[in-house]
Amino acid sequence: MAEIVIVENAEKAGALVADEIARLIASRPDTVLGLATGSTPLPVYAALRTRLADQDVSKVRAFALDEYVGIDPAHPESYRSVISREVVEPLGLTPELVHVPNGAVDGIEHAGDDYEAKIKAAGGIDLQILGIGTDGHIGFNEPGSSFASQTRVKTLTERTREDNARFFDSIDDVPRHCITQGLGTILEARHLVLLAFGEGKARAVAEAVEGPMSAFMPASAVQLHPHVTVVVDEAAASQL
Ligand code: GLP
Repeated sequence: MAEIVIVENAEKAGALVADEIARLIASRPDTVLGLATGSTPLPVYAALRTRLADQDVSKVRAFALDEYVGIDPAHPESYRSVISREVVEPLGLTPELVHVPNGAVDGIEHAGDDYEAKIKAAGGIDLQILGIGTDGHIGFNEPGSSFASQTRVKTLTERTREDNARFFDSIDDVPRHCITQGLGTILEARHLVLLAFGEGKARAVAEAVEGPMSAFMPASAVQLHPHVTVVVDEAAASQL
């Protein structure tokens, strides 16, 4: 059963999760973080700037959940750029210790296995931050994803492309494919922290946490995990 924490707003959620991460890093300087993109985790990253200001973060390791396939890594909306801009640079992490799946078309057939091997070599992820898509995707595991899935290439649904079009000049610029940690990969992390804010996420949150487990609600896979914390505002909790 997931622990549900209802907070006043996204900023409070960010502070709460950042405190937990700072504690983790204080006790283990080479903590392995699982990073999410999208707008939801931004308050966590913002709060970490002050929380980690006086801590040695040079050994912190991190793995992002996903990346677009075929996007120029230098594109401001590639997840590699987002993670550098929002996490690595402001927090002063060591860039070589922060990994993002390789979305280059060349060699894409090995990129999933390579990423899994890197996570295993790091000893697994200590704390995985998760947002949730309006259709219940986590990472880019769209409805229909196997609960046992590993890092692999997926096709984005039109709904996700529309949701993410706000980050691009037009919907035609939103990539059609992605490489994402699988639900099975995510479930291997030692602690899952799922964040959601706003009414638009209420249905997905309720179905993920309380609904029947189904590949059509990928986030419901978290019900299989023994240590899950769901941090939501009142609006996102409104259908619980
Ligand atoms: C993207 C990311 C997900 C994220 C989702 C929700 O599709 N791949 O990891 O959870 O968007 O985004 P937002 O937090 O902006 O609502």
